[in-house]
Amino acid sequence: MSFRIRKAVFPVAGLGTRFLPATKTVPKEMLPVIDKPLIQYAVDEAVEAGCDTMVFVTNRYKHSVADYFDKAYELEQKLEKAGKSELLSLIRDVLPPKVRAVFVTQAEALGLGHAVLCARPVVGDEPFAVLLADDLIWNRGPGALKQMADLAERESSSVIAVQDVPRDQTGSYGIVATREFSDHFGEITAIVEKPKPDVAPSNLAVVGRYVLSSRIFPLLENTQAGAGGEIQLTDAIAALLREDRVLGYRFQGRRFDCGSHIGLVEATIQYALDHEDLAGPARAYMLDALSR
Ligand code: G1P
Repeated sequence: MSFRIRKAVFPVAGLGTRFLPATKTVPKEMLPVIDKPLIQYAVDEAVEAGCDTMVFVTNRYKHSVADYFDKAYELEQKLEKAGKSELLSLIRDVLPPKVRAVFVTQAEALGLGHAVLCARPVVGDEPFAVLLADDLIWNRGPGALKQMADLAERESSSVIAVQDVPRDQTGSYGIVATREFSDHFGEITAIVEKPKPDVAPSNLAVVGRYVLSSRIFPLLENTQAGAGGEIQLTDAIAALLREDRVLGYRFQGRRFDCGSHIGLVEATIQYALDHEDLAGPARAYMLDALSR
C-alpha cells in the first residue's frame, strides 16, 4: 500500500480554556503569531507536504475557521478597487488553487480520538495526516510534516512526531517507548497518554503531527474513554501497534506549544526575529526591556 498522504485533518473543536477570555469568541487555532493565525501555519505545512484536501473538524461555535478559509468577496472587491494587489493575494492565498477545505462537525467534545474519527467519511481508506495547530513547528528547512510524509512513503509506515521533554512534564503528553533510533526514527513499541513521571515508559513525547494508516478508524471506533475521560487518539495508536509498524520520528525544527501562554510568547519572539521588517525593532526592544 502506498503511504502518500493527500488529506490533512485539523481538529479545531477544543475549548481553548487556557486563552480565555480571548477564546470566548475566537477558537485558539485562530490566535495569531505576528500576522497569521495558527491554523494557517498548519495548513501551509500540510500543503507543503503534498496535501490537497484540508479537513477541519469543528464544532457549531467555531464558524470563524470556516469564515477564514471562505472567499471574502467584499474585502476582495475593496482591495481590488484600491489597487492593493499585495494585500489581495495575501487573503486569496490562504488556500492555494486546487486545495480544498472540507468541514466536518464534531457534535460533542469527546476527545481528540473522537475528533479524528469524525473525519473518516472524508478521509476514507487512505493514509492521512493529523495536525494539531497549537503545536507550531518552526524550521528553516522543510516543514515537520513534509519530513514525516517523506519518511512514511519511504518506509510504508505510519509516523508520529516525537521530541524529548523533561521527565516532570510527561503528564502533559502522549509518551512512547521505542526500539533504538537510527537516522532520527525508531519503531514505537508502546504509547500511553499523559502518564505520571514515575510510570512513564520514557521522556519521549508525542508532538501534534501524525501520518496514520486508515486502519486507525476501526480501532478508534472501539476505543473507550481513557485519560481525562476522553476518547484518546493515543489509545487507538496503542491498538494499531499490535497490527502495524508505527515509527516515532524526531523531526528537525523547533516546536512551540502555542496552547500555553509562554509558548505563544516564545513563538511570537522567534517569528519576529525571523521577520524581514520586525527583526531589527524586535531585537532592539528586547534588549531595552531586558536592561530595565
Ligand atoms: C494531545 C495528545 C497528546 C500529545 C499532545 C501534543 O494532547 O493527546 O498525546 O502529546 O496533543 O501537543 P493535548 O495537548 O491536546 O492535551
